Amino acid sequence: MEKIVRPSSMERITNFGLANKFIDEQVDLIRKQVGDKKVLLALSGGVDSSVVAALLIKAIGKQLVCVHVNHGLMRKGESEQVIEVFGEALDANLVYVDATDRFLDLLKDVSDPEKKRKIIGNEFIKVFDEESAKLDGISFLAQGTIYPDILESDGVKAHHNVGGLPEDMEMSLVEPLALLYKDEVRVVGEALGLPHAMVYRQPFPGPGLGVRCLGAITRDRLHALREADAILREEFDNCGLSEKVWQYFIAVPDFKSVGVRDSKRYEGWPAIIRAVNTTDAMTATIEEIPYAVLHKITNRITAEVEGINRVLLDLTPKPVGTIEWE
Ligand code: XMP
Repeated sequence: MEKIVRPSSMERITNFGLANKFIDEQVDLIRKQVGDKKVLLALSGGVDSSVVAALLIKAIGKQLVCVHVNHGLMRKGESEQVIEVFGEALDANLVYVDATDRFLDLLKDVSDPEKKRKIIGNEFIKVFDEESAKLDGISFLAQGTIYPDILESDGVKAHHNVGGLPEDMEMSLVEPLALLYKDEVRVVGEALGLPHAMVYRQPFPGPGLGVRCLGAITRDRLHALREADAILREEFDNCGLSEKVWQYFIAVPDFKSVGVRDSKRYEGWPAIIRAVNTTDAMTATIEEIPYAVLHKITNRITAEVEGINRVLLDLTPKPVGTIEWE
């Protein structure tokens, strides 16, 4: 396949004026490419797939079918936001699949991180395949490929994103963001009316909380992780850190320590805070979180989250620590 190259004359999209011009051009191109046919999109709720969805909805409305697979490893509120923004506000043709039980049953007792990733990736393809087989007359597959993906690989987000799709799908691709850098995708997303938090959200790995619920995932520990992570995000929003820090999250290991609650012995898991800054994710430095913020997060997590009795802070830069724990 011919490699896509961004023309050197192409202006960097930095404002709504340029974004709207791009949107108008793409709407025309998409309508010409697609005609009256149907387009399928795996909508994860991440920045790229969300912006592609909004652009295609503008261009072809209900001819776009979005499939959102909830693998049960999403952060708190994420699948709900997909339904709210796309299913309700934008009135998209949205198929929502809650596959939580399928994924968690397969992951039961699996502790090897690479095996976990493989199971999640393969199952995602299977669920998506099954859903698309139920749909009639789909001629195109839309993808949120962006220019860095093309520079880094063959243009198909396969290995790193759970959105990697089966190679034998016989559909032509619609990739309207293929010439854009990430910062441009965000400007276009906001010009299309997507919520700021969705368009500027931090990177989130395809296997989701699966690589942060360390070792063999259990439902109770996954629940504790999701709740603790939601508190961390809320407090980072409150103090402005979420606009400043590149990636921040909680990891919960699969061991307990002794604690005390209500004058009784209380065994619980530790919640580990990780907050890093980077430009390319190859190296990363640690954000210095004010102690007052750390105390508040610690107090809230230990008081509000069932099963967690300690909060720890990971101070390790990359290298030597990777950003994720698994
Ligand atoms: P590491 O842990 O390798 O992470 O320092 C670098 C960046 O990549 C993200 N990451 C992943 N993204 N699937 C993804 O889509 C994965 O399996 C995966 N593993 C790590 C990580 O969140 C960080 O931004």
